[in-house]
Amino acid sequence: MADGRARVAASILDADLSNLAYAVRRVQKAGADRIHLDVMDAHFVPNLTFGAKTIKHLRKRTELPFDAHLMVDEPGRFLDEYLDAGCDSITFHVEIDEEIEPTLRRIRAAGRAAGLAVKPGTPLSALEPYRDLLDIVLVMTVEPGFGGQSFMKDVAQQKLLAARDLFSHRAFGGEVHVDGGINRETAEFAGGLGVDILVVGSALFIKGHDMGREIRLIRALADEGYQYALNGGVPPIPRDRMVTFTSLPKHLAHRLLEEIEAGGVPAVMLRGAGQMNPDGVRDYDVLVPASAESIVTERHAAARAAYQRAAVAWREAFIAEHGIIPPPSHP
Ligand code: DX5
Ligand code: ZN
Repeated sequence: MADGRARVAASILDADLSNLAYAVRRVQKAGADRIHLDVMDAHFVPNLTFGAKTIKHLRKRTELPFDAHLMVDEPGRFLDEYLDAGCDSITFHVEIDEEIEPTLRRIRAAGRAAGLAVKPGTPLSALEPYRDLLDIVLVMTVEPGFGGQSFMKDVAQQKLLAARDLFSHRAFGGEVHVDGGINRETAEFAGGLGVDILVVGSALFIKGHDMGREIRLIRALADEGYQYALNGGVPPIPRDRMVTFTSLPKHLAHRLLEEIEAGGVPAVMLRGAGQMNPDGVRDYDVLVPASAESIVTERHAAARAAYQRAAVAWREAFIAEHGIIPPPSHP
């Protein structure tokens, strides 16, 4: 399981369709979080892919969750087959003529996640009547039908954040998926608009590119974009940046470190360039994660001051007893 926020759903549309079992194993090995299955019926879109039977066979080949994206005219008519095939979520298009609500209800009654997708030209308001029944909103940033098209940035800008609002009545849950043209160049932008799931197709199947690396990069870029946007356009504090909380003689630094860690904050002690002590050993720096600096200060500022006073007393006592031991000289 990836540790960031964004998740990658690998679309196998651009894989070798004669060997889909290999494709799902490959994306699983590369670290994809889910598999996005693009079903096309040559009616709703001018292309034909695979159907429920293929999905059912693929189900045995991987443990990854299956997100079905039905680009078909009559999802309701064939819904049972997709449920039976083991899809974890089923998303279909709001632009169809078939009745939408009963299909959403049936998907949910089967315990699966239900989603509606919108083509680039369809406004999100088309989803309003169904919002209470939605677990997924899938925003298409290319015209459905084919992999490998370019990302429509204006559509993303217009709809991705707004799609999140469709879930405002829910205390938790609700996923926004972006589908079409996601790659290293576009992932950060989409991430900045708060998407949960990035559907990635052709970018995973570029000859000479390592698929695992593409997935990691896309996830990391999306997370970075999200953090950056959240932080008002200021680069966020990297999770692993440490700051010096104080510097103390080694034995005192060690005690303070233990107190900080007892509160659940990971701290480290490093030999610093700080004050030289009479025993010839410099003060140690006590470092804490930048993201925890304020809570550590709140909890331990008084202890820090007390340890600083103890350090002064210890230095004086040491000098009184032993004098000053010169630091080891390095030739
Ligand atoms: C398009 C499909 C997408 C698409 C993703 O109709 O719904 O899932 O194939 O492929 P890329 O990432 O190549 O746009
Ligand atoms: Zn899709």
